Amino acid sequence: MTSEREPIAVIGTGYVGLVTAAGFAELGNEVYCVDIDASKIEALERGDVPIFEPGLAESIAANRERLHFSTELAPALEHARLLFVAVGTPPTYSGDADLSAVHAVVDAMPTSDHHALVMKSTVPVGTGESIRRAFDQRGKSGFSYVSCPEFLKEGSALADFRQPDRVVVGDAGDWAGEAVVDLYAPLGAPLVRTDVKSAEMIKLAANAFLATKISFINEIANVCEETGADVVEVARGMGLDNRIGDKFLRPGIGFGGSCFPKDVSALKLLAGNSGYHFQLLTAVIEVNELQKRRVVAKLQKHLGSLVGKRIALLGLAFKANTDDMREASSLVLAARLQADGAHVSAYDPIAEPEARKLMRGVQFAGSAMEAIDGAEAVVIVTEWPEFVELDWQEVAQKTAGRIVIDGRNCVDPGAVRDAGFIYEGVGR
Ligand code: UDX
Repeated sequence: MTSEREPIAVIGTGYVGLVTAAGFAELGNEVYCVDIDASKIEALERGDVPIFEPGLAESIAANRERLHFSTELAPALEHARLLFVAVGTPPTYSGDADLSAVHAVVDAMPTSDHHALVMKSTVPVGTGESIRRAFDQRGKSGFSYVSCPEFLKEGSALADFRQPDRVVVGDAGDWAGEAVVDLYAPLGAPLVRTDVKSAEMIKLAANAFLATKISFINEIANVCEETGADVVEVARGMGLDNRIGDKFLRPGIGFGGSCFPKDVSALKLLAGNSGYHFQLLTAVIEVNELQKRRVVAKLQKHLGSLVGKRIALLGLAFKANTDDMREASSLVLAARLQADGAHVSAYDPIAEPEARKLMRGVQFAGSAMEAIDGAEAVVIVTEWPEFVELDWQEVAQKTAGRIVIDGRNCVDPGAVRDAGFIYEGVGR
């Protein structure tokens, strides 16, 4: 089977690119990875994986002979017909997606009647059409284009590649769509074969819906706090309804990461740019911003003024099992606390190097126990397993105050209270 698998190229070796490359290498494909960042390519050639993603380094090592890394496009174009595009599309100041990296890839493509760009990066609806137009205008009409959006979650990205809920392939009906379908066939996932624009919209709509689900349960949690209901029970009761489902009903201190904040605002703007006011998403974004700040009000309720008070943040990454700090709630929280005069100490088992690049004035600790030393209050920001297992009696020996704010509802309130703390979760 291995020899029948066709070689592919992956342009961009970030989270999406590397996981896609490793996943296809596992399936037996030769994978030609290209990145403009020479230091990244050198690291990958040495066997160093520049991002933290469980199992990724192991997978790359195990399939090393099928993975080729280069800063040049030529080997990729020589060996592969299908060129997966996995470059960054970060938000611009206007909230639209910055497509400069995508355009750079398009511009670098030669005239060809046997290559296709396969778009993995999340792009606005209409991007495929404008790339098609650019190819046509430059006499490169033979270049094919497929939209194949990525749905992987950081922290479980390889598992998501191996067992996708669905594979979406949007194309114009030529050879390339069929070739992409064949590539994914061994995974046995449900296939959504559609046009390019619909494929682009599926990705944005799915992320916007999931973000809406989170903002919805966060608002339910806030109402639970006012009414005395327990949102954990409420979410369980809601989630057993098949039409609702039990996933993405965990309230917290807001969603972050490289996708949800960017994609929700990109979809809102996309709608706005074409004259439609997407009211619901405006609320989803606002609820999320307020949710990050509610922790400050909870601390003030117990401590009064925060001036000169030491607050310990446990966890900084936007969720557990990642070193990704993009749009992490901790960034807003730490800045707000410092603006109110608090001293912030923080510990994250993995994300500290990334956090240091983005946070000012925060005292970074080498362990949870060091971070909480002398703190008036402890805030759990990220649900890392080691915080779930904390010995609260031991914590009580170290802290100056008796307040625990559990921003993820991840620790046992009973154990925290037994150690003499006031426990505040989200909506319980
Ligand atoms: C997300 C999508 O799930 C994925 O399909 C897409 O490809 C990229 O964006 P990711 O950003 O890796 O993936 O993280 P995800 O696990 O979806 O969590 C996003 C944010 O929502 C995190 O900040 C998380 O803490 C928060 N979240 C998630 C909640 O607050 N409550 C939940 O119930 C679920």
